Amino acid sequence: MKFLKILVFFIAIQMSAQQGGMWIPSLLQGMNENDMQSLGSKLTAADIYSVNASSLKDAVVHFNGGCTAEVISPEGLLLTNHHCGFGQIQSHSSLENDYLKDGFWASTLADELPNNGLYVEFIVRIEDVTQQVLEGVTETMTDREKQSKIGSNSAKIERETKKEDWQGTKIKAFYKGNQYFLFVTERYDDIRLVGAPPSSIGKFGSDTDNWVWPRHTGDFSLFRIYANKQNQPAKYSKDNVPFKPKHFLPIGIDGISEDDFTMVFGFPGTTDEYLPAIAIAQTVEKINPKTIAIREAALKVIDANMKADDQIRIQYASKQARIANAWKKWIGENLGIKKSGAIAKRKDLESEFTKALETKKLLETYGHILPELERLYNAIEETAVKRRMFIEAFTGTSELMQLMFRLTQVENAAMSSDADFERLRTNVLSAMDGLYKNMNLEVDKGIYLAVMPFYTTNIDASIYEKTAFKTLETGKKLLEGTSKEVLEKLNNDAAYQYAKVFVNDFYNNIEPVFRDINPKINALEQQYMKALMMVLPNQRYFPDANGTLRVTYGKVKGYEPRDAVYYEPITYLDGVMEKYVPGDYEFDVPQKLQELYAKKDYGPYADATGKLPVCFIGTNHTTGGNSGSPAIDAYGNLVGLNFDRVWEGTMSDMYYDPEICRNIMVDVRYVLFIIDKYAGAKHLINEMKLVRNKGKK
Ligand code: ARG
Ligand code: ASP
Repeated sequence: MKFLKILVFFIAIQMSAQQGGMWIPSLLQGMNENDMQSLGSKLTAADIYSVNASSLKDAVVHFNGGCTAEVISPEGLLLTNHHCGFGQIQSHSSLENDYLKDGFWASTLADELPNNGLYVEFIVRIEDVTQQVLEGVTETMTDREKQSKIGSNSAKIERETKKEDWQGTKIKAFYKGNQYFLFVTERYDDIRLVGAPPSSIGKFGSDTDNWVWPRHTGDFSLFRIYANKQNQPAKYSKDNVPFKPKHFLPIGIDGISEDDFTMVFGFPGTTDEYLPAIAIAQTVEKINPKTIAIREAALKVIDANMKADDQIRIQYASKQARIANAWKKWIGENLGIKKSGAIAKRKDLESEFTKALETKKLLETYGHILPELERLYNAIEETAVKRRMFIEAFTGTSELMQLMFRLTQVENAAMSSDADFERLRTNVLSAMDGLYKNMNLEVDKGIYLAVMPFYTTNIDASIYEKTAFKTLETGKKLLEGTSKEVLEKLNNDAAYQYAKVFVNDFYNNIEPVFRDINPKINALEQQYMKALMMVLPNQRYFPDANGTLRVTYGKVKGYEPRDAVYYEPITYLDGVMEKYVPGDYEFDVPQKLQELYAKKDYGPYADATGKLPVCFIGTNHTTGGNSGSPAIDAYGNLVGLNFDRVWEGTMSDMYYDPEICRNIMVDVRYVLFIIDKYAGAKHLINEMKLVRNKGKK
């Protein structure tokens, strides 16, 4: 592979650090290792990732496929964010036991709460399988032929991979499909809730402070991995025992200061760092404004109802957080793209690329890529916007509409076979239990009325009175019977009839255009990536995030968001009290925390000046999925817990600007203080390994 040789060549070129990047942990030797050490790290590449010896990677898990968590005790204790465990905390909450509001602390192993469906995954090893995956893939093949060859090669590799019975495998594309890696994984399914602070700590500042610095949120929760007696993965059983990890992170309690090295180790979800300028412009100008508006309308209804009724507050907590989180991010993203001049800078890169093609006499081979991408992005624009709006209206906001959408899939399945019908019906029936538990029909109708006008002028609130799906019982009843009977009843249901028109329009008119153009865009972007790396080899290229384990590193650092304003990198408990608004749903402070503050009763967790640190920021390049990732110091100790990014830098998924992009971490000393002093859960602290003097070797 010529491409690979080129890759190795430019990776060897030493570049200045602090430019962002999410690196593959098995490939840190060389450039990354040097970079990290020049920033102050004492770690070697093998301390971070090793197959044969235990290493930091053995303490880091993918948490439920969407967040990161880390093992912090020899008894399988897991640390992640409050917002990552939010769904589980919510599901154990009721008006009587309101863990969302009051927090939860298990005082013995027997009190730890099982969570159906929750899992974590370790990475056992990572292998470059590019050559095998691309074997027999030729330039003359169509995109579809290429994909099918890649698919069959991958299946073969996975089948032939040596692994234990309880381990899994997956193959993922990197650099837009120019490189492939195999992951051998180990998944644990018995994960129990151990502790969570009240939302007034774990979600302090809520939506107002979300994506914002200075921040004062104690965004953490604790879980524990359970295994069978052989320490292997097992389904939940009361006989399971705490998991014994290969490695757990010691906790450094000396604290951090500005310019200290930090690395963040976790599972970033998706980035798009190599988009052409036209695609960034499309997201910012066409898609974001619409999705922001539709979510804002939904949130108005949800927020008002949650404030008015505690039952609804508990029911809608996770939904609200999910809808609000991306809503606010997109607003910040648009501002950041503008402020950083990202589109113009991307255009500069494109001119540079074209010039380099000229110089290297490669215009003929690669000169078509950018003009062709521009044409395709223009061609897909209208469809892309409509498609996003359909997804918002029919899968992300009103739950009655979401259920109707799923039921159209049941109807489709019935067309293909009775077995398919049965399978999908069972899925929907079991999903309905959770859906109705957390739905209030009046609130849902309000959401429908607020959201649907963004999609259509055909609004009909009477479907909420007429449909059998207004209650769980009548809805389930409708789904009883043979497939023929069910389809007949469904097609007579008012809500189903209403939704089906839009779903059909989606499948007949929107999806086909999208599915025609989108693969062409992907294929060209693969070419673009390859050509870019070849003709501008002095740039630093890291593969876009794809939900796989990555290392990012940088320093603790403040920033200047705008003229004459400088943000310090560390916040303190004093700032929590400055923000305190008695009784407020976002900025209330628990009585006990106020008392601890008044007495300055911080135990061993205060800094040298006697203040208690709460959060800090750094130049680590992170994204969604990095939540819950450990922030690790120069010696391999846990010093913080990643949970967010700063407002001015939320565009870092498309354009990382080292001046204003910062990740936000909870200081681990605040975590320990809350567990120890606030919750009185000293037994959990005793499980951990706290190190002073940085545990220098
Ligand atoms: N913004 C962070 C992340 O993207 C934290 C979200 C916590 N949720 C919230 N609605 N405050 O997920
Ligand atoms: N809060 C995000 C998460 O949940 C992290 C981020 O987007 O910076 O993963």
